[in-house]
Amino acid sequence: MNIDLINKAELKHNLTKAELISILQDNSINSELFKAADRVRKKYLGDEVHLRGIIEFSNNCKRDCLYCGLRVSNKNIKRYRLKAEEIVNLANRAVSYGYRSIVLQSGEDEYYNLDMLKYIIKNIKSMGVAVTLSLGEKSFAEYKYYREAGADRYLLRIETTDRELYDSLDPGMLHENRKMCLESLKKLGYEVGTGNLVGLPNQTIESIAEDILFFKKMDADMIGLGPFIANEDTPLKKFSKDNFWMSIKVMSLVRLLLPNINIPATTAMESLNKNGRIIALQSGANVVMPNITEGEYRKLYAIYPGKICVNETPNQCFNCIIGKIGSIGRVVSKGLGSRRK
Ligand code: SAM
Ligand code: SF4
Ligand code: FES
Repeated sequence: MNIDLINKAELKHNLTKAELISILQDNSINSELFKAADRVRKKYLGDEVHLRGIIEFSNNCKRDCLYCGLRVSNKNIKRYRLKAEEIVNLANRAVSYGYRSIVLQSGEDEYYNLDMLKYIIKNIKSMGVAVTLSLGEKSFAEYKYYREAGADRYLLRIETTDRELYDSLDPGMLHENRKMCLESLKKLGYEVGTGNLVGLPNQTIESIAEDILFFKKMDADMIGLGPFIANEDTPLKKFSKDNFWMSIKVMSLVRLLLPNINIPATTAMESLNKNGRIIALQSGANVVMPNITEGEYRKLYAIYPGKICVNETPNQCFNCIIGKIGSIGRVVSKGLGSRRK
């Protein structure tokens, strides 16, 4: 019985591939699964929610991932790059609202050289906050340089552990290299975040179960996962499907297997369901990453359609999310929000 499997996972934090598949295929036990993940979150991490302010500082990318609106072949997108000082200023404003953790994300954009990134990281670190990078695949030497400049964490989703699927969706990229990047980041002492896209065309339930086991095996510190949302300006535009509930199921299973890690309620979840982040926070998540980029750049970082918060200001988002967190009896953390070991 799948209920027994959920009870077992809640106590032992282990499931086999066959057991994961059985739960993923059974939608009659969703509510029990979400409640179990919520109990595990509460037991290990309490009611605090960590806020990470995310700056999407460039939508230029040299890669061509078939699912992503920032892919180099997409000519229907106006490209932008923020200057180093602008990035530092955005972080400064976010810190003045109360953020203790800043995430810098971009396409794979070689415009930002080592010196520029060092300048940005050092200046933001001097504000007394945690710095997370999400800049894609880099060399060991580059990751080392950012780490020495003060970066604490790195987010690099594996996207899918199905190598064939990965190769078909990420032309010119190697699955082996992505895994090597994650290993390098671990070796360098970063807190490492990874995750997957749920609902990719030709993705199987079996491979999603493998993804979850991969997260457990690599002992990831953070797992950010979300539904794949078809983008009109990409080759996958025809694969429109609502992957919201499946992504919540996968997230809940990740919480059961990795009880003390940080798991964000992701923007893509809320883009598909107007209560998406609240549902996620009540199904195992303990982190939210509000957008602190300003002005038209929020719209231009168009990975997928229907992205939330494109017309709001960072201040509006901050107040909005604080209200949502309070409305479900949770509290905003005042700490840096490292993984609790
Ligand atoms: N370029 C870096 C990278 O790929 O790691 C960071 C930026 S990238 C836009 C961040 C994440 O967006 C990717 O890891 C991917 O999972 C997600 N993403 C891309 N296209 C998406 C889509 N159509 N729907 C949902 N998420 C998507
Ligand atoms: Fe570039 Fe990341 Fe989008 Fe791939 S997912 S095209 S690497 S921004
Ligand atoms: Fe942006 Fe609610 S978090 S409007």
